[in-house]
Amino acid sequence: MSPLDFTVEELDELFDLAEDIERNMGKYATSCLGKKLATCFYEPSTRTRLSFETAMLNLGGSVLGFSDAAASSAVKGESVSDTIRVISCFADICAMRHPKEGAPMVAADRSSIPVINAGDGGHQHPTQTLTDLLTIRSLKGRLSNFTIGLCGDLKFGRTVHSLIHALERYEGINFIFISPEELRVPDYIIDVLKERSIPYEEVIRLDDVMPQLDCLYMTRVQKERFFNEEDYVRLKDFYILNKEKMEQAKPEMMVLHPLPRVNEISVDVDDDPRAAYFKQVQYGVYVRMALILTLLDSVKEKGGKG
Ligand code: NCD
Repeated sequence: MSPLDFTVEELDELFDLAEDIERNMGKYATSCLGKKLATCFYEPSTRTRLSFETAMLNLGGSVLGFSDAAASSAVKGESVSDTIRVISCFADICAMRHPKEGAPMVAADRSSIPVINAGDGGHQHPTQTLTDLLTIRSLKGRLSNFTIGLCGDLKFGRTVHSLIHALERYEGINFIFISPEELRVPDYIIDVLKERSIPYEEVIRLDDVMPQLDCLYMTRVQKERFFNEEDYVRLKDFYILNKEKMEQAKPEMMVLHPLPRVNEISVDVDDDPRAAYFKQVQYGVYVRMALILTLLDSVKEKGGKG
């Protein structure tokens, strides 16, 4: 599942459903009774896995799975394709995180149940993007006509890649990429922006662009994807958003972060009404509930698991 598996209209329906869930949680409390979600996490996670599990439990379903590759048959050499065929016998839907780019896609091809990509290496993180889009839509009232600054590790940050990919399809989005030279957005993403004449700018200093932003998307430097410790240490504190920097921002600028945060947002920003990163976590549960419901319904419409 990638954000582009849905059209903009289908995304709108998904977000309408997520907003209805937010307002009328009780109405959905038994929607997935008897259904099981498997979470297959080959890479560490707190939010995404627990958010998926909470979503399924809120819908009255149950959950099973593993949170560490070392606790799965991967250590015995089992392929992802075989694992998913086995999981398909146990569960109705699966959320998979894997360090290898494309692994959840390979699994989806071999699976008889829906497989949701919960993050694949430095590539994509579609459900974080659904979370980000729902947060922006709910708090700003629209998904078009704004300037978004993406700041930090734009090279390895998969949430950034998925978010750019999704926002490309909305009207009037102006991208400002803020990163050190070494952590710029990969060329394959920039090429698409160029091809489609979508406005973007690449800068190094956050201060230079802060007053222009309607939304600032901060990210941590992705330690686990660095080839050498020295580079990580040199770059890890390149950006630190603090109270003082927030003074240069528009009064209604929204600060998002997929979390976990390391040092890139100082805790003194947390009480600023513009800091939306903890609200974002809550929206993540609503949108995953909406996604599970939508995918299980489409399985039902197709008649069974296949
Ligand atoms: C992100 C991820 O795993 O890519 N975390 C998350 O799922 N919310 C961001 C990160 O790890 O920096």
